[in-house]
Amino acid sequence: MLRTLDDAGDLRSKAVLVRCDLNVPLSNSQITDDGRIRASLETISRLVGAGAKVILASHLGRPKAREPELSLAPVATRLQELLGKEVQFSPECTGDHARALASSLKDGEVALLENLRFNAAETSSDPQQRAAFARELATMADIMVSDGFGVVHRKQASVYELAGLLPSYAGLLVEAELKVLDRLTTTPSRPYTVVLGGSKVSDKLAVIGHLLPKVDRLAIGGGMVFTLLKAMGHNVGKSLLEEDQVETMRGLLKQAADLGVQIILPTDIEIASSFSAEATHKTVQADAIEDSELGAEVLGLDIGPESAKIFAEAVASSKTVFWNGPMGVFEFPNFAHGTKAVAEALTHVTGLSVVGGGDSAAAVRALGFDEANFGHISTGGGASLEYLEGKTLPGLEVLND
Ligand code: 3PG
Repeated sequence: MLRTLDDAGDLRSKAVLVRCDLNVPLSNSQITDDGRIRASLETISRLVGAGAKVILASHLGRPKAREPELSLAPVATRLQELLGKEVQFSPECTGDHARALASSLKDGEVALLENLRFNAAETSSDPQQRAAFARELATMADIMVSDGFGVVHRKQASVYELAGLLPSYAGLLVEAELKVLDRLTTTPSRPYTVVLGGSKVSDKLAVIGHLLPKVDRLAIGGGMVFTLLKAMGHNVGKSLLEEDQVETMRGLLKQAADLGVQIILPTDIEIASSFSAEATHKTVQADAIEDSELGAEVLGLDIGPESAKIFAEAVASSKTVFWNGPMGVFEFPNFAHGTKAVAEALTHVTGLSVVGGGDSAAAVRALGFDEANFGHISTGGGASLEYLEGKTLPGLEVLND
């Protein structure tokens, strides 16, 4: 049983270290998508309301050492705006300054520590180094709340070892994410459609294997589709291809046929003369991609309009939909149509629609969709996939009695 905030008792005057996932995209120190900060607010507000001294900790990016452009300082500023309350910032995540700030907090006050990954011990492969760093973090708090759903699949000091050192509980975001993901694997209303995209099919094999026996339809787009098209004997030009997975894809198609799962693949592809926003492009049938067209060696950058319609119809007519991974290079407007069509269709689902973190969550917001029109937008890309794969996630394992 997962220990939750309801089990934490009276938190008044307690120093609570909250491991959040405030890993937001930044451009020139400007936050381009604050979804993960907003998703963290509910737990923070609850702790503030309970009179706890709230110490927030997170990673940002994958720094090898201190990298000023990966400072959490802009996140503290944004959090303060959203919370409507002062968020003090510690330029160190441990050490004298951080400890002094943590112990100066009054009931209901909030502080954010600098990027945990500026300390290499946070992500070290050596459990002893991680444990030593976790002990330093633990000196600042009475209780740990684990609310960084996007990072619960990582065996890292602040996620795993720290939770073993202090009384630890899942935060409201982690609870909410798990509730939705459990519905996808245990009691999905039917038809149940999974839409997968993104670049690498090898990243999605485990989740496909786990979900295939549970779903009615599996629609595949994005860069990963070219390995499937190749497995079906089609030419894919210079499109993304994982040659070593072609045979596995043949096996997957056969397994789906045996299980009676409908595999929906694009019937047309938007091919381009190069990987760029301004590339010349045209729609061709998925089984008729030539190596050389448009005066260049072509590559597919989006599913075509006919496919977008087919995918959208499959989604909109489903009672449960899980979508992970864009259908094309949505950052380039000419190749965003497939992703847009799938996102739009999810807003028409009358049952449960789940956007599975990472790029698809970013796409929903970048393309201007109202988040309220989706059943759930996960904050964890890798974490939600690993959870759906049925893996034991270290950051959750330690929160279980
Ligand atoms: C994410 O962006 O998926 C999470 O914040 C985890 O980040 P990581 O993949 O760098 O561990």
